Amino acid sequence: MKEFQKKNILITGGLGFIGSNLARRLVGLGANVTLVDSLIPLHGGNHFNIQDIRDHVTVDCSDVRESSGLKALILHKDYLFNLAGQTSHLDSMEDPQTDLDINANAQLSILEACRKVNPGIKIVFASTRQVYGKPDYLPVDEKHPIRPIDVNGINKLAGEWYHLIYNNVYGIRASVLRLTNTYGPGMRVRDARQTFLGLWIRQLLSGEPLQVFGDGMQLRDFSYVDDCVEALLLAATSDTANGKTYNLGSSEVINLRDLARLMTKIGYGGSFELVPFPPNRKIIDIGDYYADFSLITKELGWTPKVLLSEGLVKTLSYYYEHNKHYWN
Ligand SMILES: NC(=O)c1ccc[n+]([C@@H]2O[C@H](COP(=O)([O-])OP(=O)(O)OC[C@H]3O[C@@H](n4cnc5c(N)ncnc54)[C@H](O)[C@@H]3O)[C@@H](O)[C@H]2O)c1
Repeated sequence: MKEFQKKNILITGGLGFIGSNLARRLVGLGANVTLVDSLIPLHGGNHFNIQDIRDHVTVDCSDVRESSGLKALILHKDYLFNLAGQTSHLDSMEDPQTDLDINANAQLSILEACRKVNPGIKIVFASTRQVYGKPDYLPVDEKHPIRPIDVNGINKLAGEWYHLIYNNVYGIRASVLRLTNTYGPGMRVRDARQTFLGLWIRQLLSGEPLQVFGDGMQLRDFSYVDDCVEALLLAATSDTANGKTYNLGSSEVINLRDLARLMTKIGYGGSFELVPFPPNRKIIDIGDYYADFSLITKELGWTPKVLLSEGLVKTLSYYYEHNKHYWN
């Protein structure tokens, strides 16, 4: 991809899981990359995520809720990958105001800053499959009804629509990707705030049984982070993607019990146990989910490339080696 060479890129949430992997790829493509991240302890930001590219990126440890600093960050940038977000569904129920401030209010401030100082920028916004709520049918395509079942889903939906409105009304080119469970090196494994899979990785490598909620038959599709990064780049460079919303997904669909079994067979040992669903999680659980991602395949040529078994090996070996930077 030559499009990013010498281009000025801003990644909000750049010290987080997906943002840091994206930054690494963009540095490799010859881009000038700036990362902004507030490093809120309960989120996924971690300086170790960029230890190998630290000298090749500019890091600004600030909070996108502070709108006063946004114009300076956005000025002269060619692309904005807007990934700063509060990702925990449970936290969005316990502290809905913070979720609103980050996932909706701050998004509007970012777009306003673009409108005022850099309307020529191209933006890609990382949304979530959570906006669909409990699926009416599977696989879930982009025409599926939108029915969030938690505060995070509502605020991410507002974030999406702010981007689409700014595209449609002000001509600020913006694309939305609805990510599914993404995993890979750099994900948060301290707890289940980003995804339960992070906690499972930590449990497995700590010799603890993986806890599978309920009967473990819930279906999911998992995206390896390199595939997600590829989709972000494709959306950024495509004019067809302007004003559009795309699902990401996987060609492999797996239930959680089989996923736990697969993880214990990779070579790091491990076991799993079925435990009752905690009531506060059950009430915001979406049941079975997997996406129809044929729209992004058709329009942008994206398909997931990394097999689940392959991605899990890469992820577990990363945390086996670097766990001290992620456990506490
Ligand atoms: N990981 C997934 O499975 C997944 C699924 C669906 C959607 N997403 C979306 O993708 C984006 C990136 O997610 P991630 O998995 O890399 O999570 P992450 O928590 O690792 O990254 C988000 C980053 O944003 C930063 N951040 C949060 N609030 C901020 C603020 N106010 N100002 C500046 N920085 C702030 C955090 O410190 C963190 O580093 C998020 O918007 C998330 O909603 C992720």
